[in-house]
Amino acid sequence: MKIGVLTGGGDCPGLNAVIRAVVRKGERHYGDEIIGFLYGWKGLIEDASRPLDVTQMRGTLPRGGTVIGTSRTNPYRVEGGVEAVRATIERHGLDALIAIGGEDTLGVANKLHDDGVAVVGVPKTIDNDLSATEFTFGFHTAVQIATDAIDRLHTTAESHDRVMVCEVMGRHAGWIATYAGIAGGASVVLVPEHPFDIEEVCAHIKRRHESGRFATIIVVAEGATPTEGSHVTQDAEVDAFGHVKLGGIGQVLADEIERRTGYETRVTILGHIQRGGTPTAYDRVLSTRFGIAAIDAVHDGAFGSMVALRADRIVRVPLAEAVGELKTVDPELFEVAQVFFG
Ligand code: F6P
Repeated sequence: MKIGVLTGGGDCPGLNAVIRAVVRKGERHYGDEIIGFLYGWKGLIEDASRPLDVTQMRGTLPRGGTVIGTSRTNPYRVEGGVEAVRATIERHGLDALIAIGGEDTLGVANKLHDDGVAVVGVPKTIDNDLSATEFTFGFHTAVQIATDAIDRLHTTAESHDRVMVCEVMGRHAGWIATYAGIAGGASVVLVPEHPFDIEEVCAHIKRRHESGRFATIIVVAEGATPTEGSHVTQDAEVDAFGHVKLGGIGQVLADEIERRTGYETRVTILGHIQRGGTPTAYDRVLSTRFGIAAIDAVHDGAFGSMVALRADRIVRVPLAEAVGELKTVDPELFEVAQVFFG
């Protein structure tokens, strides 16, 4: 078969491991020809591609980012975009597409499937907010990076009796904040799912300080909001999927805590460091399993499906189920984090 592969949305540790697995099993087991389309859906609109083979994919398993590039291009928002995608598919004589991405990229894949394109999805996002799979690849790496950072922030928090605010990614869901908060021993975790009361946050901090425990670590997801406010954004610009650029809640929070409590408060924004560099061993294995499952799904004709992790098995679920609704933080998990507040 002739199969196109693309990576869309934010880059993510493990993307190359998925591509490598697709190419390895496709070429060696099925005798496929694999073509990588460059910069996500943009590569299909503009017909920009490169052939991918086992030799070229050597050494890419531990490499962060994506060797075929990525973007947040949405063909349904580009004039003539869908027709251009179809034309590229025809021009190359593609039998199928494998789309590796999050809610936006797979949302496009789902629409294209409804429009008759043979496509299989692979769930990617450090945010872990995609439904129908227990984990997306990249999340584990992001949590490990955030946890390592929080461990290091404890040193300064303890030595200077400071409140340290650590802002992590998580636009609509606080999975990274909750996991890293539990793993890093945070005194407060703030997530988009639960608008926070600044007075309550300050009360936790004061209680700690009054009981002789200084060094407060607060983990805040970039999409967290105060009860009375709205998102804190960098600017009003939106991307092709209508998302604003988040970032900045950590600084606002730190300023407000210092003003209300009088305790010296500092902020660290982890930003893209969470998405950078090599995937953890867990993510390398998950990505590899997803890649193998995706090429198998193509050969079984399971179009319109996404490979997913459920009870540690790789299964196929309808793309529509994966992109229907965001997967927000499990309330039971958040309750675990809350036990350690204050
Ligand atoms: O897609 C995941 C993510 O890292 C989000 O957590 C974050 O809000 C967003 O991407 C940032 O995107 P960009 O790198 O395009 O600013």
